Amino acid sequence: MANIMNAAYLPGNSRVDLREAPIPEVGYGEVLLRMKASTICGSDIRCIYHEHLGKGPEGYQGYIAGHEPAGQIVRAGPGCRRFREGDRVVVYHISGCGLCNDCRRGYMISCTSAKYRRAYGWQRDGGMAEYLLAEEKDLIALPNGLSYADGAQVACGFGTAYEGIEKIGISGNHDVLITGLGPLGLAAAMLCRKLGARRIIGMDVVPERLAIAQQLALCDVVLPGGAENVTQILDLTSGYGVERAVDCSGNENARKTAVRATRKWGRIVFLGEGGRVELNPSPDIIHDQKAIYGSWVTSIWLMEELVERLVRWDLRPSRLITHRVPLENAGFAYDLMSSGRCGKVAVCFDEELSQPSP
Ligand SMILES: NC(=O)c1ccc[n+]([C@@H]2O[C@H](COP(=O)([O-])OP(=O)(O)OC[C@H]3O[C@@H](n4cnc5c(N)ncnc54)[C@H](O)[C@@H]3O)[C@@H](O)[C@H]2O)c1
Ligand SMILES: [Zn+2]
Ligand SMILES: [Zn+2]
Repeated sequence: MANIMNAAYLPGNSRVDLREAPIPEVGYGEVLLRMKASTICGSDIRCIYHEHLGKGPEGYQGYIAGHEPAGQIVRAGPGCRRFREGDRVVVYHISGCGLCNDCRRGYMISCTSAKYRRAYGWQRDGGMAEYLLAEEKDLIALPNGLSYADGAQVACGFGTAYEGIEKIGISGNHDVLITGLGPLGLAAAMLCRKLGARRIIGMDVVPERLAIAQQLALCDVVLPGGAENVTQILDLTSGYGVERAVDCSGNENARKTAVRATRKWGRIVFLGEGGRVELNPSPDIIHDQKAIYGSWVTSIWLMEELVERLVRWDLRPSRLITHRVPLENAGFAYDLMSSGRCGKVAVCFDEELSQPSP
């Protein structure tokens, strides 16, 4: 095997730098993955691609990009206890210290160690390269029923959506509003369907996103974002509002709609990040007995459970992929994702590059 690989970096001026990098050596408890699929998340665009805006855990430190990686182990270092060469895996995209309270709960996303918390694609090398060095403790086995392109989206996108809707609970009693139909909103819609949501109302300001939600039959009703959204949703729900709302936009107006179009005793989860929102707590929340949850990524055990459920449900995240591109076209991939005129965009390698999405 050569010792040089190609890798993509995000300098922060809406461009992608493709450079050569050494293929890493595996150390104790580490594995080297041949990358197969590396998908782009809205956070890559929001915090890194246009400008390095993120701070702390969202601070990009110039490493190889990509925090939704799936691949195959080509080398397992000494001390590996479970995984071996040939295994197909997803990488939980934050490597934590393993010892703080959050890591012990499996939420390495919230690891409190300034020294050891390192997110792949932010503070350590990520999946936009031919190979990725990962810690064995961060791996999730990818079952044969799922492709690498399915698995890549479990890191971040689908994992985040699953955690959020688990927090608010979804059942056949619920009309669900999803504000923002980017890959995260579409993932939430796909999961809400499987959990039996009665009716799913989706909202976005980009017509292509509304069209994808309809083509994939993930929403029963789609609404272009606008000032009338609350009224429209009340009309659709006999004046009551939805039982559950999931904000996947991070937009102030959409967040307000999510809260105000939710009925008494309803639950709302905010997943979309950044920005702000101004609410009137008494009429918007308190007097209607509503609960607003915040939810950040997920735990490694819930991701493992999700992978099992996806197989059981025959639910394929790769349905959301509208574009598969090779690493050398990563510039096009990030540009497309930043335009919003797409579903999920995946940088793929080897057999994944030629796969049609199911
Ligand atoms: N909570 C978490 O752990 C977590 C994890 C992953 C991503 N995120 C965040 O979730 C958000 C969505 O990510 P994504 O990958 O789907 O990408 P994205 O940023 O492309 O999706 C956001 C969508 O919201 C839509 N939108 C913007 N303004 C709107 C409005 N007024 N009304 C309705 N829709 C509107 C956009 O058109 C877009 O389709 C981003 O903010 C991302 O940073 C959060
Ligand atoms: Zn920790
Ligand atoms: Zn993400």
